[in-house]
Amino acid sequence: MQSAFTHKSNSQLMALKGPSINASIFFRALLFLLPLMALAATAQLAVAQKVQLTVDPSRLGAKIDRNIFGQFAEHLGHGIYEGVWVGPDSPIPNTRGIRNDVVGALKALKVPNVRWPGGCFADEYHWRKGIGPQRVIGLNPNWGGVLEPNTFGTHEFMDFLDQIGAEAYVSVNVGSGSPQEGAEWLEYLTTAQPTTLAKERAANGHPAPYKVAFLGIGNESWDCGGNMTPDYYLSQLKIYSRFVRNYNPEQQKEHQLLKIAVGPGGGEPRWTEWTEAIMKAYQHHQWSWDINGLSMHNYTVVKWPPAFASTGFGETEYAQILKATLDMDALIAKHSVIMDTYDPQKKVSLVVDEWGAWYAPLPGSNPGFLVQQNSLRDAVLAALNLNIFARHADRVRMANIAQMINVLQAMILTDKEKMVLTPTYHVFKMYVPFQDATFVPVVFDTGSYTHGDITLPRVDAIAAKDPAGKLWLAVTNIEPNQPAEIEVSLAGVAAKSAAGETLTAPKVDSVNTFDTPNMVVPKPISARVAGGKLSMKLEPKSVTVISIEQ
Ligand code: AHR
Repeated sequence: MQSAFTHKSNSQLMALKGPSINASIFFRALLFLLPLMALAATAQLAVAQKVQLTVDPSRLGAKIDRNIFGQFAEHLGHGIYEGVWVGPDSPIPNTRGIRNDVVGALKALKVPNVRWPGGCFADEYHWRKGIGPQRVIGLNPNWGGVLEPNTFGTHEFMDFLDQIGAEAYVSVNVGSGSPQEGAEWLEYLTTAQPTTLAKERAANGHPAPYKVAFLGIGNESWDCGGNMTPDYYLSQLKIYSRFVRNYNPEQQKEHQLLKIAVGPGGGEPRWTEWTEAIMKAYQHHQWSWDINGLSMHNYTVVKWPPAFASTGFGETEYAQILKATLDMDALIAKHSVIMDTYDPQKKVSLVVDEWGAWYAPLPGSNPGFLVQQNSLRDAVLAALNLNIFARHADRVRMANIAQMINVLQAMILTDKEKMVLTPTYHVFKMYVPFQDATFVPVVFDTGSYTHGDITLPRVDAIAAKDPAGKLWLAVTNIEPNQPAEIEVSLAGVAAKSAAGETLTAPKVDSVNTFDTPNMVVPKPISARVAGGKLSMKLEPKSVTVISIEQ
């Protein structure tokens, strides 16, 4: 921009004065003055762009539960089959049928929990079809009507979790199953007693009981999960909560099975009424039923059916999508108010177990497979949502991005033996230090970034202290055209140094592909220190995470 401006001024002056005897003196002066003018303009810009952040490590907030970095893996498209499961006979390197490259990548994310088998799929899932040597080949009517081979079932899921080091979040079938079917599944999974189901589990290769940390009681029961009214669902919830249990008293001593009820899917009255109905009932619940979480689903989609392209878009679509994603904050606040009314002690977590960007399917892909690319825009979107969850850490104690591999806003894309890590993956990796860290307030003026009729905050930031006492800061520069100069003061403490990683790319729609996997990857960044303050220049459209030495 500056060189264009200089060029224009130059030619305008030329046109005004015309070539004359004084021209050479004039141009020599100009040659001297222009860089100075440009420098002054840049300096002005830099001053105007400076963002002061004050981090106060003496005022600690809630713990940022590691479970907000949870994943969601549904039997949908190539999310499970090809993405996780290739089978033991595949030439793709695997351990008992599970891809080694995917396991390696996910281990680095320290995935706390995986929600499975759906989604809408969960309310049509019958677990017995997916155990034992003879799997039942069925259909997946929700997602493309393709064959469901059931080769990835209970044991394969638990093995996968074991390989990546995550906990199980199992969604039980309320829509087309029964409390008995759900109860037997949990008995099969958890009992240590020599019941017939436990013996069957042992015969299928796992004598020891499995641990199930979280139980989802239905999925979107107001829609694909059975189109239930709040009252009808509530009666089901009470029954399932009573009978679908952890059958292993030993496990319950250290880790209960936390039960998550279906909650809202938006902010309109039908959703606030839903939250109201469940939470009101919870307030006076008796010993025979209980919940520990209320699920909320909120995709960044702008309009339905999803129409935004996941590649080849410009600044307008960047701004529109980010504006829409920031609605997450108000939505959480809205449902938190209702939850606070009936649960002021915040015993029930708000579990955002489906979130992320939902774009138009990639041209040529099966529309039922929800295939989309993942760009720098999604990295920024992920950081903004994680920041929102962290700010609501007293109520939001779990979240699951949709979905882990090859579906919607994925961490990983695969194509046969090839695998690529997405920009969203890198944000999750950069944010690992925030898992179970304690929220620390950051005071800053967000400033604003305007594009057309959209105005967004220019920067966003969160800070936290990890369990070892180290201070971490995450700053997102939303503004896609201007860097942000940030200056960080630590209230009452002089910062000594800071370093970490920053993620950006040439364009808002830059993506990683199998051929160019390193277009959007984090790079090291460190801060300058003067007078106990840290200064850093953040690239436009970037996500930065640093640790601060005091
Ligand atoms: O993530 C895709 C689908 O979106 C899930 O199956 C469903 O719960 C939601 O509507």
